[in-house]
Amino acid sequence: DPDQTPYELIGGAETVRNLVNAFYARVAQDPDLSPIFPDDFTEVREKQYMFLTQFLGGPHLYSQVHGHPMLRKRHLPFPITPRRAKAWLACMSRAMDDIRLQGPVRDFIFARLSQVARHMVNQPDDTS
Ligand code: HEM
Repeated sequence: DPDQTPYELIGGAETVRNLVNAFYARVAQDPDLSPIFPDDFTEVREKQYMFLTQFLGGPHLYSQVHGHPMLRKRHLPFPITPRRAKAWLACMSRAMDDIRLQGPVRDFIFARLSQVARHMVNQPDDTS
């Protein structure tokens, strides 16, 4: 079916769940990222599951519960530097490896997430 969404192509809810779990396991171990996240990832993991589901063309779970994503605005309370954006994307790439997400659909998803990550940057790298 040429009209399949990325969500359908990767295997739907189960794959998104696995990706999100693998991703935050990586984030929790990342020295640049872990300090700005809460110790308990339960809530952000669930929000990201709902967000990625709709971002990839699945049901609009995030907006049904939390309204318009406004991701840049929701990230403003956190210091997001170019270095942290790179770290976020590295964690995502490794998480994709962890769950063996491969091929053109992986590259497509990663490219789109790279755009969003760049858009989240709200502070320069610490130059001190
Ligand atoms: C929330 C960091 C990029 C999606 C958060 C939180 C932090 C964070 C610290 C809040 C955790 C809390 O609730 O205490 C970062 C960093 C990024 C980044 C450092 C690097 C560029 C992204 C990208 C996406 C994304 C690219 C989209 C795929 C989300 C979502 C939430 C969130 C959906 C939950 C928003 C809410 O409803 O409160 N992020 N993020 N983030 N992030 Fe990111």
